[in-house]
Amino acid sequence: MIKKYNVPGDFSSLTGYDSLEEYLKLKIDVHKDSDAYWAKVAERIDWFEKWTDVNKTNYHDAHIEWFTNGKLNASYNCIDRHIKNGLGEKTALIWQSNDVNVSKNVTYNELLVHVSQFANALKRSNIQKGDRVCIYMQMIPEAIVAMLACARIGAVHSVVFGAFSSDALKNRINDSECKLLITQDNGVRGTKHDIPMKENANNIADECPSLEKIVVVDRCGNDVAMQEGRDIYWHDFIKGCDTVCEPEVMDAEDPLFILYTSGSTGTPKGVLHTTGGYMVYTSHTHEIVFDHHKDHIYWCTADIGWITGHSYIVYGPLSNGVTQVIFEGVPNYPDFGRFWQIVEQHKVNIFYTAPTALRALMKEGDDFPNQYDLSSLRVLGTVGEPIKSPEWHWYFQTIGKEKCPIVDTWWQTETGGVLMSPIPGCVPTKPGSATLPLPGIEPALLDENGNKITEPNTTGFLVMTQSWPGQMRTVYGDHQRFKDTYFSQAPGNYFTGDGAFIDEDGYYWITGRVDDVLNVSGHRIGTAEVEGAIGAATGVAEAAVIGYTHDIKGEGIYAFVTLMTGVEPSDDIKTDILATVTKIIGPHAKPSVIQFCDGLPKTRSGKIMRRILKKIAQNETDDLGDISTLADPSVIDSLINK
Ligand code: PRX
Repeated sequence: MIKKYNVPGDFSSLTGYDSLEEYLKLKIDVHKDSDAYWAKVAERIDWFEKWTDVNKTNYHDAHIEWFTNGKLNASYNCIDRHIKNGLGEKTALIWQSNDVNVSKNVTYNELLVHVSQFANALKRSNIQKGDRVCIYMQMIPEAIVAMLACARIGAVHSVVFGAFSSDALKNRINDSECKLLITQDNGVRGTKHDIPMKENANNIADECPSLEKIVVVDRCGNDVAMQEGRDIYWHDFIKGCDTVCEPEVMDAEDPLFILYTSGSTGTPKGVLHTTGGYMVYTSHTHEIVFDHHKDHIYWCTADIGWITGHSYIVYGPLSNGVTQVIFEGVPNYPDFGRFWQIVEQHKVNIFYTAPTALRALMKEGDDFPNQYDLSSLRVLGTVGEPIKSPEWHWYFQTIGKEKCPIVDTWWQTETGGVLMSPIPGCVPTKPGSATLPLPGIEPALLDENGNKITEPNTTGFLVMTQSWPGQMRTVYGDHQRFKDTYFSQAPGNYFTGDGAFIDEDGYYWITGRVDDVLNVSGHRIGTAEVEGAIGAATGVAEAAVIGYTHDIKGEGIYAFVTLMTGVEPSDDIKTDILATVTKIIGPHAKPSVIQFCDGLPKTRSGKIMRRILKKIAQNETDDLGDISTLADPSVIDSLINK
């Protein structure tokens, strides 16, 4: 029996969700008239013109549409609105550099100047509404300025995670035909002061026909190769530009950004989010999920290269006028106490991180957190993967001192914002469960035949039966792929790709992906992408990749590799495989284990039976399940006996 944790004693909600009974009643009311609910929620942001219809979504056509004809601007909502409300001198960003002794505050007034000036510089470079701009940066304030400047003029940003390789950057730039790339000379993280950001960009710029300009932040003062006419430093790019820039009037359904994410097949998909619904949803969920109040200091440790950074560093928190820490470094530099040192230094009230980071820190013992005053903490969040009991309890006890509710937030790049989470001060928690869907979110569990599962504790496919404003609108440039990926498995529903069950209290437990997508340290990676990258290494014939349980990463990558005839397995080939994966995707996609084998278990139609490989990788070879469909069952023995 899993213990239920009631709301910690003296925690009282500031945002008004403080009674479970009332919350459950609200959810029922919303269910009855969700348009009325979302219309009310949408009033929390500023619109230049009000919408005419709340929701014109039709899942059967894969058509998602919210707040029709509404006009607004995301950067206006994140900055100007707060200044108009007298908060111009409030600190928006507390940038904590990788260096313990360097931090910098940026007020809302200053943010407006930086964003407006950069926006004018973009315009001067002929970037217009609808043009795509790629941002390939680490966690420095300019990254956020760049995103908001794009939003200000209606350009569509595509942020590429700073650890992605040149090839991955190239593919993303080309897929959405970005005209301009914003990067930095070098990246700084932990002991590394020379992450080759500009060099990576230089390696591929000639292979990106749409790319006209590269803007480079001089983060490190390092000499990097700049191509005359194409490349320009940030400080030169903005030189002479006015610091006032009227925000572009955007339609609710005008694109705000593209963010690439991995799927079970093919190349990463450009998930497209639009302006109105996304702003309403991220702003609303940031407030209710974290019980965010205007005086709080908020810190989300994510990187802006992922959706968590977009929704819960940039658009959600800033539209709520937050003061937030943004952190350039890593949790273990200069030591494993870094997170807690920052919490003490900046008196953080709301802290949001990933279970993988908690596992890595928990392993180092309690001495690190115990050195710091963590009494400012009020709400603790997690995201990206299931949080297991040991790290949940460590977070609750050692970090939160049993006074902070833990919000285990379940969501996806595609969902734009949190769909399931406890509400602090209101919904009792159970370690490992994202608890209940938020108001207006209507999940269902389906069996293999598409029938709704109603019995408790029965795992099924998690779908959403209704849309919500933050839902992605399409796969950039490929609406058919959007339909096929999300609306074909269970017509009339959004298919999440996750499995889940509901317990006797109605709480949801996410069991993980039901497709060939891995979750490594909270990073989403497609098996097909990794297999393709391994296949490009010299001497490799074929690869099959599966995820196996990993103590720290949650899931580690296990690769089974067959070699070309005449090529002998060797450490050199392993090294080459790792280098090739790093080159094609990035270091976060490197397999933890490489096993050479003579053949892969395939069906007669040539499909790799990953289920069997997973059992072999996890040493569960006593029961391999049904192997009768294998084309060559003798392969199994050779795999086990390696
Ligand atoms: O499998 C789920 C897992 O992460 C996937 C989404 O990954 P991504 O689009 O990269 O977004 C991550 C950040 C929102 C989901 O399909 N996932 C995310 N949060 C949780 C989770 N699994 C269990 N519990 C969570 N809280």
